[in-house]
Amino acid sequence: MTASPIPFNRATLAPRQLAYLEQSSRSGQLAGDGPFSAAATKELSGLHNGAPVLLTPSCTAALELSALLLDIQPGDEVIVPSFTFSSTAGAFALMGARIVFADIDPVTLGIDAAQVAQLITDRTRAVVPVHYGGVPTPPGLRALADRHGLLLIEDNAHGLYGSLDGQPLGTFGHLSTLSFHNTKNITCGEGGALVVNDPALHERAEILREKGTDRARFFRGMVDKYSWVDVGSSYLLSDLNAAMLLAQLEFGAEIQARRQAAWDHYRAVVGPAAEARGATVFEPGPDVVNAYHLFVLLLPDLEARTALLKAAQEQGIGCTFHYVPLHSSAAGRKAGTAPLGCPVTDSVSDRLIRLPLFSDIGPADYERVADVMVRLLAN
Ligand SMILES: Cc1ncc(COP(=O)(O)O)c(C=O)c1O
Repeated sequence: MTASPIPFNRATLAPRQLAYLEQSSRSGQLAGDGPFSAAATKELSGLHNGAPVLLTPSCTAALELSALLLDIQPGDEVIVPSFTFSSTAGAFALMGARIVFADIDPVTLGIDAAQVAQLITDRTRAVVPVHYGGVPTPPGLRALADRHGLLLIEDNAHGLYGSLDGQPLGTFGHLSTLSFHNTKNITCGEGGALVVNDPALHERAEILREKGTDRARFFRGMVDKYSWVDVGSSYLLSDLNAAMLLAQLEFGAEIQARRQAAWDHYRAVVGPAAEARGATVFEPGPDVVNAYHLFVLLLPDLEARTALLKAAQEQGIGCTFHYVPLHSSAAGRKAGTAPLGCPVTDSVSDRLIRLPLFSDIGPADYERVADVMVRLLAN
């Protein structure tokens, strides 16, 4: 009998998830900012030094909310890495910003801080670093942004539970965004959050998220009726999704421990086999608490990556790659430019391979993945 395929990703069921979903379904209160939203928000705020957190339908929506907060005018520029998911740039392009693509650092695979400094102009409004795989981008970006009067918005879709020198990722910027998409460590299918580290942005963020109304102030008893006071959209997460999110967050320590076990096994077993083939393991430095979001190898070239990916998939191992560089994509070329070029992005995008890593991967699966990968790397 051939072994069943191991997917790249699969969501796990947290112990209290079904009970919370039933409780929420029966409550008759499914709209956003209900009781489960309040509890999930509290958990997330606790993971971000107590900063206010607004649940959103996705990380993309949280990025759009950040873009709305910027009040982008024609010609305004936003600096983003080319090596990221489309939303990091797309949310700002949607609001009319001109996207300036920066290259990435070859070690952290996050935005190249030296390029950012060179790319800032008097039209720049924000810098949006991505903590790729939960590996922090340089903390010095906050000081750089403050010096130039820019917003630093951390796209922290990958980095929940990660930290640098004890400081949680997502607390460095004025704002940060989280994803609870199916592929993330903590998931409610589709979901996200905006973390508001700069208190000056909090009240307006609440209004923009609530269709431009001051409903949040009304619920706090600060106004006697709520009305339309600003532009805005509908960026709340249903309380049903929040019920699932809360169950997952309560199970967060176990989820991280399981992912760490798989990650450590890959590092110990696949790592040396990869290194013997001239590949490198993408891993955080000693001052970082790993978010255990991705396990990534960088192969010597595109040919080696393509061959390994194909061979792994033929063996039922759900390896994948990403990202196709944004600066040379069809929409990226319309949305902006990469004035300094992005050679590291181009190279990494060709050479990267991701191994299956998900929250209920058990030893039987990760040991089989590792054994197959070691065999393929030896060929
Ligand atoms: C870096 C990054 N930013 C943003 C997103 C978008 O997240 P969501 O699907 O929650 O909108 C993703 C999705 O994988 C991502 O990897």
